[in-house]
Amino acid sequence: MTSKKLIKNIVLIGFMGSGKTMIAKALAKKLKIERFSIDEMIEEEQNRSVAQIITEKGWPYFRRLEHQMVKKLSRKKGVIIDCGGGVVLKAQNFELLKKNGIIFYLKATPQVIYRRIKDDKTRPLFNGPHPQARLKAIFKERLPLYNQADYTIDASEASIDGPVAEILKKVLA
Ligand code: S3P
Repeated sequence: MTSKKLIKNIVLIGFMGSGKTMIAKALAKKLKIERFSIDEMIEEEQNRSVAQIITEKGWPYFRRLEHQMVKKLSRKKGVIIDCGGGVVLKAQNFELLKKNGIIFYLKATPQVIYRRIKDDKTRPLFNGPHPQARLKAIFKERLPLYNQADYTIDASEASIDGPVAEILKKVLA
């Protein structure tokens, strides 16, 4: 696809398991632009997985690394930024990403998300008892934050084709 020159970043937010990474990769390929994943960049910089960082250093430490990475990546232009699900917890992150970016919330229901992530042991947020109830509670708490996005895209279907096409339509309009 020949893309119009994108000046703004395409920023993907949403709960874990909403398909952000797959959709970000597909968009990067179609638009021939760079993709940056906040979690992957943190892992590269720290030489450890996000799960390891959280286990060893705790959540506040991870959230600080995440904020630093948001600061760094939000300075870029015309790229795709794939955010970890909790990026919206810090209002300043949202403001920074919004400055240069169009923010897309990939929305999937808690039931769909639970089905997608229940067997994945690398999800530190859901290690521990009652993962389904925890997911529902966290989802409810975050929903108003995700709803601040410029666009909400339905990402509940298994195929990413629909969300990818919808995002392309918006950014190339
Ligand atoms: C988190 C989501 C994860 C990762 C970390 C915290 C969250 O990213 O940043 O485990 O708080 O929702 P993904 O949404 O890419 O899985």
